[in-house]
Amino acid sequence: MRSLAVFSVKGGVGKSALAVNLAHAAATLSARRTLLWDLDTQGAATYTLRLSARPDASARKGIAEGELGPLIQASDFPGLDVLAADKSLRQLEKQLADDKAKRLKKLVKSLDQDYDRVILDCPPGLTELADQVFRAVDLLVVPMLPSPLSMRAYDQLVDHLAKHHKGSAPAILPVFTMVDRRKALHAATIAAAPERATIPYAAAVEAMAATQLPVLVKAPKSPAAAAFRALWTDVERLLTRVA
Ligand SMILES: Nc1ncnc2c1ncn2[C@@H]1O[C@H](COP(=O)(O)OP(=O)(O)OP(=O)(O)O)[C@@H](O)[C@H]1O
Ligand SMILES: [Mg+2]
Repeated sequence: MRSLAVFSVKGGVGKSALAVNLAHAAATLSARRTLLWDLDTQGAATYTLRLSARPDASARKGIAEGELGPLIQASDFPGLDVLAADKSLRQLEKQLADDKAKRLKKLVKSLDQDYDRVILDCPPGLTELADQVFRAVDLLVVPMLPSPLSMRAYDQLVDHLAKHHKGSAPAILPVFTMVDRRKALHAATIAAAPERATIPYAAAVEAMAATQLPVLVKAPKSPAAAAFRALWTDVERLLTRVA
């Protein structure tokens, strides 16, 4: 089993869109037994895959008690399961602050008999949960807008990992999202980091909130779908490389 988290300090940069499309790609393109774990109480990833938490579910309690099984549901796609977000996650920060530092790491590890790929969709912010996520996963996929302020936030994340997760930090894959090359600032920022993966600003991605379908299903021939496919190939390569 290999795990990744879609993480960024900033909000609204396309994390959930990436998490859903990468998880769908893992299950369908690579036939990996995949779990998408929605850690954001907003539940955007859960909703986009046409699911919702079971009425009496408490993900916070499941995390505290190490009982994830009852929280997991099948999606409409073979090989793709979802651990749905629910309102209890609002209390997760408080709980993790008093909890063991490797709580989440242990839980992710406990999934390794049942899944080949575990993908976490994280809420924004450099919080206690984020530190637990950094200890838990093999790879961080970090979406950012192509702008100097986003690059700065990314540099701060890299510094944080070097300082607080020395020797055990996950691999890190920065991705430019919502890219519009007609914008001078986007074009200039990308020119300064030309090797970095990009996801275009695309109606096909925006529409996921309405269609509740991954881009590879709803618009498989779109440039956005091609970008997600290419990104998944990069991610798979990195994941198979990590020890
Ligand atoms: N490549 C894209 N092109 C166009 N719209 C996008 C793209 N990626 C995301 N969006 C839209 O931007 C909004 C924010 O995206 P998303 O929810 O994925 O961001 P997020 O980083 O998960 O946000 P949050 O920090 O609130 O969890 C959504 O309305 C989504 O549909
Ligand atoms: Mg999100």
